[in-house]
Amino acid sequence: MPVIDILLSDFLKLSEVDKLSYIKDYALLYAQQFSRKDLDDYCILADKCRALFKSTEGAQKLAGLLSNRIALNFFVQPSSRTFLSFSAAQAILGMKRMSLRDLNISSISKGESLEDSIRTFLSYVDLVVMRHFDNDAAAIAFWVAAKAARRVSIGDEERPIPIISGGSGNLHHPTQALLDIYTLGKSFNESGGIDGKKIMLVGDLKRGRTVRSLSYLMKNYNNVELIFAAPDQFQMKDDIIKFLDSHKIPYSKIDSIRDAIDSVDAIYMTRVQDEWDKVEKGGHPPTNDNVIFKKEYLKLMKPTACLLHPLPKRDEIEIEVDYADDPRVVYWRQERNGMWMRVAIIATIFQCDQKILDS
Ligand code: NCD
Repeated sequence: MPVIDILLSDFLKLSEVDKLSYIKDYALLYAQQFSRKDLDDYCILADKCRALFKSTEGAQKLAGLLSNRIALNFFVQPSSRTFLSFSAAQAILGMKRMSLRDLNISSISKGESLEDSIRTFLSYVDLVVMRHFDNDAAAIAFWVAAKAARRVSIGDEERPIPIISGGSGNLHHPTQALLDIYTLGKSFNESGGIDGKKIMLVGDLKRGRTVRSLSYLMKNYNNVELIFAAPDQFQMKDDIIKFLDSHKIPYSKIDSIRDAIDSVDAIYMTRVQDEWDKVEKGGHPPTNDNVIFKKEYLKLMKPTACLLHPLPKRDEIEIEVDYADDPRVVYWRQERNGMWMRVAIIATIFQCDQKILDS
């Protein structure tokens, strides 16, 4: 049975949900592909890897798992955290790593198509993690991998070389959403987990792929409520609103953090994604004051609430917040959690999760 039996042009026309019937667990492209059990399992596995790595013996065990595999990190949009944490995660699992970060020094600059370039990568590596400005690039890569003759042995199957999205255009950032769930789960460890929580997403919700992917994951939790705090021009797009409606997830739209700061359980800040503006590159415009997290807001936040940010941040969080020594400020821990979540993601895709849990 071939993994894919349709033309690329037809595959790209499918909705994301329909694409998932081909993608299954061969690749990781969309947050919509995860069930509650998947999310719980990823978090348990990330914790287990973290604990194992503390001992030399445990670290050696992890490093033995994928030592015969090579990863390519194909990141052609700017990235610090996602690139480095994937690279570190691969190192923890013993993978050999390569990276391609600039289209100008790849054959794409000579006119090679993305399809041919991906096909070339697949000749050398066993995993492609990619970040691309084109919303469809990761889906194209999956299709090419599914069609390619080269397969990788995973469990007792010969599978297409796995593709993981590390950020697709301004639509998807599924692994960020997984690490956000891991961080939220940890923050709510003593307050009953993510179910029943009120989560405020702040900033550029229109073009921020992190908040979009995180919104999709909310279908897996009971009685979660979302609050979108953004100026009108950056409010959440209708496709996500429709998704929330179809899953009966309540939400509201506001334009100032102040209106909900004292009632929410989590505040998820984002920066203005001005790389999508068709203006001269240069300085960054200041953030609208209504969606800046001020130090004084720490006093208004619930004692059990947490403050997240996928990072990088600019002026949307007052710098004093970083040094307030407040345990509810979790974005630097969120960053570290990302590496462990990515260890769990790669281990799961190569089916060594059970081996890790058994050690
Ligand atoms: C985010 C991204 O690239 O979408 N960064 C990240 O991966 N942590 C958020 C952003 O760039 O604002």
